Amino acid sequence: MAQKVRAAVFPIAGRGTRFLPATKASPKEMLPIVDKPLIQYAVEEAIDAGATKLVFITGSSKRAIEDHFDTDPELEQALTDSGKGELLKSIRDIVPSGVSCLYIRQGKPLGLGHAVLCARPAIGDEPFFVHLADDLIAGTPGCLSQMAGEYEQHGGSVVAVETVPREHTSSYGIVAVDGNDRNRITQIVEKPKPDDAPSNSAVVGRYLLTPEIFDKLEHVGQGAGGEIQLTDGIAALLDESPVYAYSFDGVRYDCGNKLGYLQATVAYGLNHPEIGQKFREHLKEVLAD
Ligand code: G1P
Repeated sequence: MAQKVRAAVFPIAGRGTRFLPATKASPKEMLPIVDKPLIQYAVEEAIDAGATKLVFITGSSKRAIEDHFDTDPELEQALTDSGKGELLKSIRDIVPSGVSCLYIRQGKPLGLGHAVLCARPAIGDEPFFVHLADDLIAGTPGCLSQMAGEYEQHGGSVVAVETVPREHTSSYGIVAVDGNDRNRITQIVEKPKPDDAPSNSAVVGRYLLTPEIFDKLEHVGQGAGGEIQLTDGIAALLDESPVYAYSFDGVRYDCGNKLGYLQATVAYGLNHPEIGQKFREHLKEVLAD
């Protein structure tokens, strides 16, 4: 049986220009969906899947993320003094005991593959998750837990995929798979034009990778957009080590664009235990106008 996955990597160095001016001084990963920032959903999904080491690959102007996952004694004291026990719990439990956070600076924006390579000293020779917080996935169990289940049964790396319209292939890594071999990936291409795409099965922001990926990433060089691409590292791995495409159970919201972000806000707002019902009534009123 395969090893348990204990580490998760969160590449968070990117600047989020699509949300300017909101993200001028604040990281895009701190944009809230109702009452939690995107990066907290990411961390919760990884912890639920068994991660106890959280590795953030960070960059300039991302300090708020470190603060978010740190303790805040002054705020805790103020909430204790004012008897706000529920709120106190909500900030204390963000990182449970036994889970550690490590921060590594990427330094230069050389691409997702480079960001993952920056995590090497913290990961060593273990399998690990990569989670892209822009892709918010509502699912029970969470997408990473589903992928860990696959990995524990069969081993090999696992990449989450979703079918997208042909005209969108140039926004994603696109895979071709062998359907007779548990959807083992036979080809993966970063952001191909629709005419060049091997399918319309797109990689979404969840990966479970075995440590052989690091040696591949050391050698891939610049790919699409002049960046060191994780996709190219995975492509280099395919002949040596199996990588499986996994169609997850859940709904993905692309919170890297405004419409996807609003769709996530509506979906999570409607399901929210405190305000869901009122929000539903409000939406009905608004739409009836
Ligand atoms: C990255 C990956 C791409 C993947 C996508 C999923 O692209 O390079 O292969 O399909 O995430 O969200 P980005 O969206 O960072 O440009």
